[in-house]
Order: sequence, then C-alpha cells, then structure tokens
Amino acid sequence: MNSPQEKHDKLIRATDLDALSCRYNMNIKRYLNPPDEYIEDLMKSYSSYLQYCAGYTSLSSSRSSKSLSQDRKLPIINRGTYFRTRAISDVVDEFVREFVNCQVISLGSGSDTRAFSILEKSPQVIYHEIDFAETTRIKKLAIMKNRKLRSILGVEENVPEINSKESFAEYDPDLHCKNYHLHGNDLRNANPGPKLKGFDPELPTIVLSECVLCYLSPEEYYSTIKYWTGLGKNVTGILIYEPMSLKDPFGETMYQNLQGRGLNLQTFDKYPDLESRLQFLKSECKLTKLRMTSLSNIGGYSKKQHADGSWFGAKELQRINSLEFVDEIEEIRLLLDHYCLCYAESRSSEKAPSFSGIDRWNWQLQDQ
Ligand SMILES: C[S@@+](CC[C@H](N)C(=O)[O-])C[C@H]1O[C@@H](n2cnc3c(N)ncnc32)[C@H](O)[C@@H]1O
Repeated sequence: MNSPQEKHDKLIRATDLDALSCRYNMNIKRYLNPPDEYIEDLMKSYSSYLQYCAGYTSLSSSRSSKSLSQDRKLPIINRGTYFRTRAISDVVDEFVREFVNCQVISLGSGSDTRAFSILEKSPQVIYHEIDFAETTRIKKLAIMKNRKLRSILGVEENVPEINSKESFAEYDPDLHCKNYHLHGNDLRNANPGPKLKGFDPELPTIVLSECVLCYLSPEEYYSTIKYWTGLGKNVTGILIYEPMSLKDPFGETMYQNLQGRGLNLQTFDKYPDLESRLQFLKSECKLTKLRMTSLSNIGGYSKKQHADGSWFGAKELQRINSLEFVDEIEEIRLLLDHYCLCYAESRSSEKAPSFSGIDRWNWQLQDQ
C-alpha cells in the first residue's frame, strides 16, 4: 500500500469501524427497540479478519478491534446515531409498505445491518449492498458464521479456511442469494459500470447513501447520483444522509477534525446547507420531489419546533430521554444541525409512481 490513493481509501474504509462502533454503543444503551442482534457478528468478523486487510498488521488490527468495542460514546453521539438510524429505517420501511415489491440499493453499506431486519420482515424486497471488496468480505464472513442470517438470506456456501492475507484476498467478495446481493465494488468504477447483478430495472427502487457520497470528489458525487438514479425504469428515490458545514465555526472545527484524520470532505462546504443541497439535486441532478431536513429537526431540537414536532413523537423522546441524560441542549442542537437527510427522486415517465409516503414526516424544506 504505497500510493496516496490507496492510503486514502484505507482511511475511508476505516470510517466503517467508527460507524459500527457508534451503532454498537447506541445498541448497548438500549436505544434500539428491539435491539439489533447482528451488530456483534460484524464486530467479531472485523476482529477475526481486519488483520488480513491492506495496510493492517495483526497488532494494528487488534488495536482497532479493541477500540471498536471498548470506546464509549458520549450520550449526544448515541442520541444522534439513534435519530439517524431510525429516521433512515423509517423511510425505507415506508417505501417498502407503499410499493411492497421493490428494491433497496445501499451504497457504501459497510457493516450496516438494516438489510437483515428488512429481509426478515419483507422477503419480497430485493436488497443490494455495495462497498469496497475488503469490507464486503468481512460482511460476507459474518453472514456465513451466523446460522439465522444464513437462513434468512438462503445462503448455502461453505466458509473456506481464511488464515492469511492471500486467502482473504482470494475469497470472493460478492454474495448473491435470492433477494440479497452483496457487491464488492468501488463506487467510483460503477459510472458507467457493468450492470449490477440481480438488479431489476422494473422495480420501484430506493438508493441509500448514509455517510458515503461525502467521501467522493464533487464530480464523482454528481456522477454517482446521476448513475444510480438513472438506472431504473420506474421510480427511483435517493436518500442521502451526511454532514454539512453551514459555513459556521462549528462546521469549520468539524472540517479540521476530519482533515486531521486524513479525510477530505469536498462537498461538505460546497453544499453547506439544505438550500444549496436542494438546488444541486434539483437543478444539476434534475431530480424531483425534493425533501430536506436537518437531524436536529428529526430529533425535535430545531429552534423553531416543539419536542413533539420530531419525527418520533413525544412518547418516544421521553423513552430515549430516560436512557441517558443529555442536558446540553445547545450543544446537541448545534451538532445535529450539521447533519442533513435529503430525499429526491427520478421517474422514468409520467406514468411511473411517486413515493407519496415521504410526506408522512415533517421536512424543513421541500420542492415539487
Ligand atoms: C462512514 S461508513 C458508513 C457505512 C454505512 N453506510 C453506515 O452508515 O453505517 C462509509 C462507508 O462507505 C464506503 N465507501 C466510501 N467510498 C466508497 C467507494 N468509492 N466505493 C465503495 N464503498 C465506499 C466505505 O468503505 C465505508 O464502508
């Protein structure tokens, strides 16, 4: 691993360890109800196989795996992770309720476990997950070692012996089951790429990018959105969750912190707020039905809002308030103000349906 690009990609892949650690912490604090039973399988898979990934030694991987389970997150981080996870899952669940036979494509899915609970409840859904090959190998191995997951997905393969960098690199990063497709691909190569195995262009499709597109250059950001929203012959919605700078001192500090870790988020400041994101998705990407909100609005922390204006209602907020005490209201509002959730869609023709359920929630900005 010598080139700056390879080093940068390793740092980007490692952001999945952070995301997993955040979900693990939120889960052990009982934010998720019911709890997520698969997070620990992903953690075990990382602790067994991270050592075989490019740029890791057994010492450095064991350090990363230890901090994965030992680092404790602040209550405001747990709460933000819960709002983000729950809001995205609620939108996807609503999409599935409305369209029934439909498709989900998760870009940069990392160790996210949402696919498993959705396919358990709704086996008619076709679910695609895409990430770098090393990351999908780790996920595939986690699936292989869990009997319940193998049964939900209908996996029949055996797990080969993996005990070296060579055997890990030789392991097929893809997994194709009846309704679940795991693709070991670099998103930057998919534009225009070989057709996605298992993709059904006739199905209503929702594309997810949860803290993923933000790691691409502005040109890749645009071409990736255009590519994935242009593949289907029905309605294709895209749901993007990521940080935004708001061009304020807090955003500047976030940017400096990420830069300090070698992560350069090029669209963080290019589309600093909800308005600029709406304009970009509408005017440049030519998408419609635009819906934008900050995470603080989702959680009921937005300044112009009462707590029961949140996406979850007063009762649920009361439940999560009882899990961990958060008294720094200004601090959590400031943090959550800097994350956005954006929905937009493309329809192949006037006859194609539109996702009406998206208006079940309170969005701060909308168009069409
Ligand atoms: C912050 S993690 C988020 C993981 C997951 N979406 C979640 O929210 O839990 C970012 C993920 O995007 C993936 N990613 C970033 N750039 C990618 C690219 N060019 N091709 C494939 N995956 C990519 C990383 O490998 C990583 O798993």
